[in-house]
Amino acid sequence: MPRVLISQWIFGEAVDMLRNAGHAVTTTDDDSPMGSDALGSALAGHDALVCMLTDRVDAALLGANPQLRVVANVAVGHDNIDVDAAVALGITVTNTPDVLTEATADLTFALLLAAARRIPEADAHVRDGRWRSWQLVQPQTGSDVHGRRLGIVGMGRIGQAVARRAARGFGMEVVYHQRRGLPREAEAAIPARRVTFDELLTTSDVVSLHAPATAETRHLIGSDELRRMPAHAILVNTARGTLVDESALADALDRGEIAGVGLDVFEDEPHVHPGLIGQRSRVVLAPHIGSATVQTRRRMAEVAARNVIAVLRGDAAPNPVVPPSPTD
Ligand code: GLV
Ligand code: GLV
Repeated sequence: MPRVLISQWIFGEAVDMLRNAGHAVTTTDDDSPMGSDALGSALAGHDALVCMLTDRVDAALLGANPQLRVVANVAVGHDNIDVDAAVALGITVTNTPDVLTEATADLTFALLLAAARRIPEADAHVRDGRWRSWQLVQPQTGSDVHGRRLGIVGMGRIGQAVARRAARGFGMEVVYHQRRGLPREAEAAIPARRVTFDELLTTSDVVSLHAPATAETRHLIGSDELRRMPAHAILVNTARGTLVDESALADALDRGEIAGVGLDVFEDEPHVHPGLIGQRSRVVLAPHIGSATVQTRRRMAEVAARNVIAVLRGDAAPNPVVPPSPTD
């Protein structure tokens, strides 16, 4: 009977799917990563691993488990897995695209709106009893979202879902930058205009990041890029923390080089740069909850289970990850 290790707590439906497919499933009630050494020991003798983005699946772990056939990440991003090493060893890596696209685009807009309209500050103002009266210019007076220009970096599935919301829901003008070309039909369907990275940075009122974490995208936004953005600009990152130089971002906010940020991801989660924690004005922080709705997280777990079942049955995985990584 093939053996499946699930590295952290997962919805019972996904476990049932795997058991009903005839697999012996090792589960845990722990909902945090067990650490590399413990994961290494736990994985021995298993044919499949269902893991989370907080589990580091490196070449050493993969190499020590020659019986392993599939690693199913319960996430669309897969920078926690050494995909090249897996491919070299003939191990299939899968992710959970599509099911989390809309939820992540929703959260992107939540952060965008919260930063632009200063919702956390407004909430604190009311709760702290500081609200005295309506004023023409209240302390939480923010900036328009509708009708402004949104620059999307990385026009994959999530970038496209954000573009639709921006253009159709908020009447924004959407521009985007994307290194790799998109299929012609996809390009035609996107309510956005492709521009250079420089034009995107220098002309967008809001910049939203939707590129994967790779060596090339590391610190895509650093001090130089932040300086080129308009002083009233807002930066939103719901992709991966490594895209932004967090220390440069804290400095740029201090110096007023950009007006605000909405961040769901960080360079060294769960650590957040103290220079960001210390700022409340137009700095909105969330603990990597882009896909965190009950419906979406359930679907992600089920997609991971379906991928394991397919590979162990000898079928092609529905959602294989192959280098080079797709842009989302
Ligand atoms: C979450 O960050 C994911 O990659 O699914
Ligand atoms: C970002 O690097 C992109 O162009 O997708």
